[in-house]
Amino acid sequence: MTLQHQPLAGKFALVTGASRGIGRGIALRLADRGAAVAINYHKNENAANEVVRLIQERGGKAIAVQADVASSEEMANLVHQVHSTFGALDIFVNNALGDLLSFMAPPLSVTLDQWDAAFQCQPRAFLVGVQHAAPLMREGGRVIAISYWPGSHLGGFSSYFAMGANKASLESMCRYFAVSLAGRGITVNTICAGITDDSIVNQLPQPAQEAMLGWLKSGWNPMCRPGTPADIGGAVSTLCADDAAWITGQTIVADGGASLMCPEIPLFFQKP
Ligand SMILES: NC(=O)c1ccc[n+]([C@@H]2O[C@H](COP(=O)([O-])OP(=O)(O)OC[C@H]3O[C@@H](n4cnc5c(N)ncnc54)[C@H](OP(=O)(O)O)[C@@H]3O)[C@@H](O)[C@H]2O)c1
Repeated sequence: MTLQHQPLAGKFALVTGASRGIGRGIALRLADRGAAVAINYHKNENAANEVVRLIQERGGKAIAVQADVASSEEMANLVHQVHSTFGALDIFVNNALGDLLSFMAPPLSVTLDQWDAAFQCQPRAFLVGVQHAAPLMREGGRVIAISYWPGSHLGGFSSYFAMGANKASLESMCRYFAVSLAGRGITVNTICAGITDDSIVNQLPQPAQEAMLGWLKSGWNPMCRPGTPADIGGAVSTLCADDAAWITGQTIVADGGASLMCPEIPLFFQKP
C-alpha cells in the first residue's frame, strides 16, 4: 500500500471492544489506513491477539490491551496504558458493547441492575474515556462513539430500551464534547451503525438471526444486505482523516439507507 492510501500514517488509535465484530472491523480499517492501533478486549484474549497478528501481518502496528470498560478505574488505566506504550494518542473509538443480551428487557420490566449495566458500559465508560483521553490527545485528534440510530431515536424495539436510552446519551455527550474540544481541533462524532453481520447479531438464536438478516435482504435495507464490520470501519476511518477536520458534533448514520425506509408504507410501494 502506498503512502497515498495511508491518510492515518503516524496516528495512534485506541478502539474499545476491538477483538470481535464491529470493533475488529474498525481496528483493521484504521490499521490499513496507517494508524497504530490498540485492540482493547474484555475476556477474549485469543481473539484480540488474532487481530494484532492480522494487522502485523499486513505490515501495521498493533497491541492488545485487556480492560473492562464498565469499570471506571480500568477504563482510565486503559487510556493511560495505551498512551504510555505508544507515546501519543490521536484517535479514541468508544465501541465496546458490554453484555447486551443480559440487559435486553422492555421499559416496564427492566431491572435497575440491567439499567445500570447499560449505563456503565456506554455513557459512563465514554465519559471516563474522554475525560482521560482528551488531555493526552494531540491537536487534530478524533473521538468517535458507536451507536445504533433506531435504538436511540425510535421506540419500537422494546427490549433494546436500556441500551437505546443510553446510546442516545452517548450521542448527546458527543455534541457537548465537540464544543469543549473544538479549540484544539479535536472532533467528536457519533457513527450509528446499521444492523451488521459478523457481530452480536450472530450470537442470537439461529431463527432470530435469520429473521433479522432476512428482513434486511427482503428490501427493508435498500441495499438488500446487512452491514459488515468493514463498512463501519470505513465510516470511522473517513472521519479520522484530515479531510474530515470540519465535521464535529454530528450523528452520522452508516446503514446502507435502512433508516430511510418508511414503516407506514408497504415495502412494495417503496421499491424503485
Ligand atoms: N451489531 C450490530 O448490528 C450493531 C448495530 C449498531 C451498533 N452496534 C454497536 O457496535 C458496537 C460493537 O457491537 P458488536 O455487535 O460488534 O459487538 P460484539 O461482536 O459482541 O463484540 C463486542 C466487543 O466488545 C468487547 N466487550 C464487551 N464487553 C466489554 C467490556 N465490558 N469491556 C471491554 N470490552 C468489552 C468484546 O470483547 P471480548 O471479545 O473480550 O468479549 C468484543 O470485542 C457496540 O457499541 C454496539 O452497540 C452494533
